Amino acid sequence: MKIAVLYGGTSKEREVSLSTGKGIIQALTDNGHDVLGIDFDPEQILSIIEQVKNVDMVFIGLHGKQGEDGRVQGLLDLLDIPYVGSGVLASSLAMDKSKAKQIFATKDIPVANSKTYWEQQDHNEIFNDIEKEFKFPFVIKPNQEGSTLGLTIVHEKSEVTEAIQMGFKHDTEIIVEEYVKGKELTVAVIGDRGEERALPIIEIVPKSKYYDYESKYSEGGSDHIVPALLTDDLTQKIQDYAVQAHQVLGCETYSRVDFILTDDQVPVILEVNTLPGMTPTSLYPDAASAIGMSYEEMIEQFLKLTLK
Ligand code: DAL
Ligand code: MG
Repeated sequence: MKIAVLYGGTSKEREVSLSTGKGIIQALTDNGHDVLGIDFDPEQILSIIEQVKNVDMVFIGLHGKQGEDGRVQGLLDLLDIPYVGSGVLASSLAMDKSKAKQIFATKDIPVANSKTYWEQQDHNEIFNDIEKEFKFPFVIKPNQEGSTLGLTIVHEKSEVTEAIQMGFKHDTEIIVEEYVKGKELTVAVIGDRGEERALPIIEIVPKSKYYDYESKYSEGGSDHIVPALLTDDLTQKIQDYAVQAHQVLGCETYSRVDFILTDDQVPVILEVNTLPGMTPTSLYPDAASAIGMSYEEMIEQFLKLTLK
């Protein structure tokens, strides 16, 4: 097949996407496809349209805004070109952490208490409201961003203003969330609509205090325990939540669902990633490898599911 891979892009996760794109292009090439790699630049949109018009399929290897959030998916829909992964609505809902949480709650999937604030609001009022509503520590993060960019775990009053500003550097909306202490877990989901299954759960043990950008993307920055050491019942419950979260947003083909497992064994959902990282240190390929599926087989499986 002739497949265009969109990667890079202009979001803050560009560097991650360069690595994801490289992995996907290599795998598709090894699988014998005719691959056209395109570093996605919205300013070059007209020439990109010309390039993708004649391919059989597009593999979107972008992360973050303008890639993972539904806009590129919408463009490809208009052009009637099949692409791997979720469509417009699921992509934009998953990218909007606050909206996604409201939807997860309708399925009784545990979510952390949170509130959103807009950049246009008076920042002193935001400060006062946060102080009233949240106990330290809490998290301030951009509502639409990935890879923990712009995220601060706020421990004391003196850190609040800077954390608010940091969040607004990445988005016009921030989300303030109670800090949920526990194990970081993630679940890869794969499959046809209505028949999705969860791959083995991964527990992430960052070498630094938190699973931040550095520990996500440096070689050896974190250990992945797969399958995570959990009771069968709890494993089943978390996998069910992951599939439900994927389905309730309307995701397609694949996604990765992140959780924190509290000390009381409550799996609190953080988010669904509709275009999870596919870098050498990424989680999704590790989950696939735990069931004996190589990176190349995983990519080929995505293509098959897309063509169905
Ligand atoms: N947002 C990054 C790419 C991930 O979730 O893997
Ligand atoms: Mg993410």
